[in-house]
Amino acid sequence: MGSDLDQMKQEMLGRIQAAGDLHALEAERVAALGKQGAVTGLLKTLGAMSPEERQREGPLIHGLREAVTEAIAARKATLEGEALEQRLATERLDMTLPVAPPAEGTVHPVSQVMDELAEIFADLGFSVATGPEIEDDWRNFTALNIPETHPARAMHDTFYMDRADAEGRPMVLRTHTSPVQIRTMQSQQPPIYIIAPGRTYRSDNDATHTPMFHQVEGLVIDRGITLANLKWTLETFLKAYFERDDIVLRLRPSYFPFTEPSVEVDVGYTIQNGRRVLGGSDRWMELLGSGMVHPRVLANCGLDPEIWQGFAFGCGIDRLAMLKYGMDDLRAFFDGDLRWLRHYGFRALDVPTLSGGVGA
Ligand code: DAH
Repeated sequence: MGSDLDQMKQEMLGRIQAAGDLHALEAERVAALGKQGAVTGLLKTLGAMSPEERQREGPLIHGLREAVTEAIAARKATLEGEALEQRLATERLDMTLPVAPPAEGTVHPVSQVMDELAEIFADLGFSVATGPEIEDDWRNFTALNIPETHPARAMHDTFYMDRADAEGRPMVLRTHTSPVQIRTMQSQQPPIYIIAPGRTYRSDNDATHTPMFHQVEGLVIDRGITLANLKWTLETFLKAYFERDDIVLRLRPSYFPFTEPSVEVDVGYTIQNGRRVLGGSDRWMELLGSGMVHPRVLANCGLDPEIWQGFAFGCGIDRLAMLKYGMDDLRAFFDGDLRWLRHYGFRALDVPTLSGGVGA
C-alpha cells in the first residue's frame, strides 16, 4: 500500500508540475482533491479500516493530501507570477500619448468680440443683459419714443411676425438691441450699468448688410450722468478694444428718437499700405450711435427723469470685428465656410482677459 501511494504521489506531483496554465492546474486539483478525486477517494476508505490499519495508513493518506495541496499552491503561484509577467510585458500604456486629440472647432469672431466686450465692460462695472430676439413692437419701437407714424419704423425694414403677444401687441424680430434698455429699466432699479450684445434683424442684404446681424447696446442710468461720462466710457472702451492709446473720437450732433441730445460717434483712422488703421485723427469713420436717454423713454419705463439721467449707445458688433480683425465682406460671417472660420477663428482656450490682452 505504502509504495502504491508513493507512486501515486510521484505521478500527481509530476502532473501538477507539468500543468501549463491555471486551467490545466485546476483540472489536476479536481482530479486529486475534488469530490470524486483520487485523494478524496482514499480519505473515504479510512472509515472502513480497522484501527491498526487506520493508524498506519492515515498519516500516509493525509500526508499525500498535504503534499498534493502544497504542490498545487506552489504551482499556482508560479503560473500566476508568469501570467502577470506576461501581461506587464505586453499590455504597455504609453503615458506620454496626448489624452485627447486637440479640439477641431474654433470660436467665431463674433463670439470672440462679444467675449471681449463683456470683459472690457465688466472691468468698468457693467453687467451683461439679454432680451428675446422676438420682441413686442412696443418695446422695439413705442417705448423707445418711436411712435407708429414715425419714419424710423420704416427705416428699420422690420420683419413682422404673424402672431401678436398675449396683450395683442404685434411681434417683430427685434431690429436693434435697444429694447433690452426698456426691459432692463422695467425690471431693475437704477443705478443701471449694462451692455446687451445680441442678434438683430432687418430685411437688408448686401456686402455690408445681412438680414441677421449683431449689435451691442450700452445703458447707464444713475444720478447726475452727463455727456462727458458717455464720452469717457466710449473712449475707455474703444482704447481697450482696439488695444491702442491713440484712439480719438469725434462726437457729431445727430438724431435718434430715444436720445436727446443724440450724437453720432466717429473714430479717427489713417491709411497705411492701403489698409485702414485705427488711431489718430487724419480721417474719420462713423462707428456708433449714442446720446442721453430721452426723458420720455425714462418715463415710459416708470423712472422719474427729474431724478435719473443716463446715456445709451448702440454699435454693430460685426463691424467692430471687421475693423479689428480685417475682414471686408460681412456676408462671409454667416456663410459657415470652414476655411474662413479656420482662418479667422479663435482657439477655444484663448479667453480674452484684460491682463492677457482682449485681442488674440
Ligand atoms: N438702436 C440704434 C440703431 O440700431 C443704435 C443706437 C443709437 C442705440 C443711439 C442707442 C443710441 O442706444 O443711444 O440704429
